[in-house]
Amino acid sequence: GETLKDVAARKGMRFGTAISAGRNQFGDAAYRALVERECNLIVLENEMKWQALEPAPGRPNFGPADDVIAWAKDKGIAVRGHNLFWQTEKWVPAWVAKQNFGPQPAKAVEQLMRTHVSTVCGHFGNSIRSWDVVNEAVDPADGKLRQNALTRPLGAAEQIDLAFRLAKEYAPQAQLVYNDYMRGDAGSAKHRAGVLALLADLKKRGTPVNALGLQSHIGSWDETDKGRSDLVEWRKFLDEVSGMGYDLLITELDVNDRRLPADIAKRDAGVAAATRDYLDVTLAYPRLRDILVWGLADNVSWLQTWDEAPRKDKLPMRPTPFDAQLKAKPMKQ
Ligand code: XIL
Repeated sequence: GETLKDVAARKGMRFGTAISAGRNQFGDAAYRALVERECNLIVLENEMKWQALEPAPGRPNFGPADDVIAWAKDKGIAVRGHNLFWQTEKWVPAWVAKQNFGPQPAKAVEQLMRTHVSTVCGHFGNSIRSWDVVNEAVDPADGKLRQNALTRPLGAAEQIDLAFRLAKEYAPQAQLVYNDYMRGDAGSAKHRAGVLALLADLKKRGTPVNALGLQSHIGSWDETDKGRSDLVEWRKFLDEVSGMGYDLLITELDVNDRRLPADIAKRDAGVAAATRDYLDVTLAYPRLRDILVWGLADNVSWLQTWDEAPRKDKLPMRPTPFDAQLKAKPMKQ
């Protein structure tokens, strides 16, 4: 059948996936060929996160990302950058979190951020035309900005503002994205309200932010999910975001199937229906041009090992467009 990038192209859009440099993804010729066939856009699943690029201070490790980017260039596939700053405390590199910022912590943090952004953006240069500059800044529990080792000395809003200004300085060619998981079909109203407040504040400050990245880890994550009725709230949210002048992109789509039946045909139909309902609402926004899934085939999905919302029956999850044998599932249709 038609490839996903061709389906997207008919709507003037690009289609992509996250890919890791690991043995079962970039290292697997069959999987690589599937990505090459279906996608004109990729993002590194883990290899461009701060901890991966700089496991220890001043000792960058660009190799794995460079290998994938070289391949993508050769195949005419564009690459997104993910991410410069991940606000969730546990994802801040340990050597950063442990650092003693001395008598002038605000100055020291600014300097550390500048070094990080200039090193990373300087290295990747024009090969990255879209950056997730800040990832997951809003706490879904209360809608407030998360605090971490970098925000405490500067203030969370100021630290986020600075992140985007540095990105603009060192990657002037790139679309600058704020990326978060507000969810499409459920998720927390406080989370969405917090993201709207953040985007309004950034606009007021004149911060150079071009777009909101909708992670889109949809499906059932907890027992309170109400499913499709919440798409009404989702539409209101997207109306407000586009009303503020931000572009949109779907950065990490997959469907958690933990509450769908064990029967594979039923489960795949449920995943496809959830995807269709979500995309019907979300792709109606003309500001949305790029859509990426977080893994193209079920066997490589992070949800197989992510134990925060597993299936009770422990069966393998089926959250992506292709099965473990790389055969198209109903979600692809
Ligand atoms: C996940 C990766 O898929 C995992 O391999 C890793 O262990 C943790 O991070 N939101 C994001 C992504 O922004 O970076 C996350 O990726 C998934 C949720």
